Amino acid sequence: MTQWFERACKAIPGGVNSPVRAFGSVRGEPVFMAKGEGPWIYAEDGTRYLDLCMSWGPLILGHGDPEVVEAVQRRAQDGLTFGACHRQEVELAEAILAGFPWADRVRMVSSGTEAVMTAGRLARAATERPLLVKFDGGYHGHSDSFLVKAGSGLATQAIANSAGVPEAIAGCSRVLDLDDLESAEALFAAEGSSIAAVVIEPLPANNGLLIQRQAFLAGLRRLCDEHGALLIFDEVISGFRLRYGGVGPQLGVRPDLVTLGKIIGGGLPMGAILGAATVMDLLAPVGPVYQAGTLSGNPLSVAAGLATLKRLNDGRVYQQLEQRADLVHQAVQAQALDRLRVVRWGSILWFYGSEAEPPRRACDVDPEITSRFAPLHEAMLAAGYYLPPSAYEVCFLSLAHGKEELLEFAKTLAQVARPTTKPSAAGT
Ligand SMILES: Cc1ncc(COP(=O)(O)O)c(C=O)c1O
Repeated sequence: MTQWFERACKAIPGGVNSPVRAFGSVRGEPVFMAKGEGPWIYAEDGTRYLDLCMSWGPLILGHGDPEVVEAVQRRAQDGLTFGACHRQEVELAEAILAGFPWADRVRMVSSGTEAVMTAGRLARAATERPLLVKFDGGYHGHSDSFLVKAGSGLATQAIANSAGVPEAIAGCSRVLDLDDLESAEALFAAEGSSIAAVVIEPLPANNGLLIQRQAFLAGLRRLCDEHGALLIFDEVISGFRLRYGGVGPQLGVRPDLVTLGKIIGGGLPMGAILGAATVMDLLAPVGPVYQAGTLSGNPLSVAAGLATLKRLNDGRVYQQLEQRADLVHQAVQAQALDRLRVVRWGSILWFYGSEAEPPRRACDVDPEITSRFAPLHEAMLAAGYYLPPSAYEVCFLSLAHGKEELLEFAKTLAQVARPTTKPSAAGT
């Protein structure tokens, strides 16, 4: 055990401040990072890795983007937090809303968890109904209503997925399979008048990348409309990742509320909920739905978010990301590996370690991927590539990832997945 991990395990539960950072399903132990620069991340011992995790999505411009860092430094000189209104939060609100022309208002919070928790409360208040519907394999942060899984009795009745979540709260959630409109129809037929909202990642990216059919999302929209429920798109990952705004227009479906996080904070803590004024103005102080935050709209997060969105508001950025991601996709695919498929949407890539067709539902993911991924992760780490430490996590590319290192990455990945030759080190 490294000295840092040893000390961390004594001071922090499991040595990590978020369980996804633990190496629970891969070999070895968490690497302690000291510095990030462009597409690279450096460990405490000086080892350099090509980062394919990118802090789980926020760093679309790469580590330490000079414009973002400068914006934060400049802002920090004027004070770290005011707990009062400031000009840049208005500018960021406008910049976010520019990506969602149908929405009127956005409220900023400090994490994706807070954003989805607030969206659920808003939906319950707007409809005066208790039930929230989510999907197996979707992750919406760690608030009680969403830490649920399908129960074994009643098909859709949820049970707590974590100790400490009272069954009374879990009992107000329902869990369905993705890509299964029939079950959604049956649920609405049985309980439609109690359903406040359907919450879905329009591009589910927390259980692998489970790309949904447009017809399924359109079907959910129809069911919500027919029964007076809200449709909430959780775009904490997909917001501003694939285009300036959300994926709704690409999928031809408009939600009632959108939750954001990650990219809009440019690498600092941030989340947001947006929608039409009719729903959003239910929030305090205008309406009766309470929501607050000491550090909401924090000047530093806002400065980082603004600097990031400013850069993204240039269509060429997404073309460039698409080209880079396609390069990796094609290069890995060209190797025709039996047990490694690339599932991709824009700059989100999932290396699916199975010969099976890419799944659309969590229950269809090949259960063997974890045992296959562990040696692959270990070998890639040894070769200088930092992949998220789970077979179920996706990789993120940034504008800082260059063609050369991506081709080298694809080559190494192929070598490792077909372990007959020794992999070469990253960037050498
Ligand atoms: C789709 C989605 N929603 C919500 C969250 C929670 O966001 P946070 O970790 O900022 O609380 C995440 C985190 O990964 C996410 O992927």
